[in-house]
Amino acid sequence: MSKSPNTERKVTTAVFRLKKERGEPLTMLTAYDYLTARAVDQAGIDSILVGDSLGMVMLGYENTLPVTMEDMLHHCQAVSRGASRALLIGDMPFMSYQISPAEAVRNAGRFLQDAGMDAVKLEGGEERLEAVEAIIDCGIPVLGHLGLTPQSVHQLGGFKTQGTNADAARKLLADAKLLDQAGCFGIVLESVPDRVAEYVSSQISIPTIGIGAGAGCDGQVLVTHDLLGLFDKFRPKFVKQYALLYKEIDAALGSYKAEVESGEFPKAEHSFSISDEEWALFLHQASES
Ligand code: KIV
Repeated sequence: MSKSPNTERKVTTAVFRLKKERGEPLTMLTAYDYLTARAVDQAGIDSILVGDSLGMVMLGYENTLPVTMEDMLHHCQAVSRGASRALLIGDMPFMSYQISPAEAVRNAGRFLQDAGMDAVKLEGGEERLEAVEAIIDCGIPVLGHLGLTPQSVHQLGGFKTQGTNADAARKLLADAKLLDQAGCFGIVLESVPDRVAEYVSSQISIPTIGIGAGAGCDGQVLVTHDLLGLFDKFRPKFVKQYALLYKEIDAALGSYKAEVESGEFPKAEHSFSISDEEWALFLHQASES
């Protein structure tokens, strides 16, 4: 399939700031492959996140922890071939930025140099500040991620809503301010009470992109497979399914099986032909050999 590029102007990190200033909601969706990236780009979504959620959605892991740099770069390359307008953000996997700022910079650079990304995302606040600053210092835009940070699932005791008491909400606000001051171009707020997310959004200069964080964020992100109803394992409360593609796929696959088994498929219209002359010649030659 050839790539028909979305000819609208490329979205940059400056658009994030501009949209926040204007009060215009930002849209972000995940993509892990060429086809989905193409569809998301052509729908005019502002930004595509190649999330490490691909570990669960594409690779079948229980959580995001086993995802490697090589997994991420492979999927980012496919996405970058499918999208031309949306801002492309590569998610830094577990242990690719925690060991040292130098290693964080090296790995962040690979997302831009080897995989066609425009920016990177990493999880954490104060405890990741040195890594965030070092990456930004090299000219690589960083999207922060606070609240439920899935790479810390074991520390958090599960996939639980964060910032639900005054102390935790205060820490969230402090971390958001630190990431803002460090020069991040936005912050994902995941699974945070709506009032907390709205307050944090009002206190920082960069946009917040919410997932399970209510309508008071400056933008929204969802996992595209959830939105399309492709993932049947479970549906988090914050997901709205705009389609039920899993059911359609199930029905289509069932019809294919039934038609092949009954001889209904394929028909002549799905087959190729050889001319009568060539066929006669072939039969003659075959009978002689
Ligand atoms: O990995 C991911 O897809 C994410 C989004 C859910 C924000 O981090």
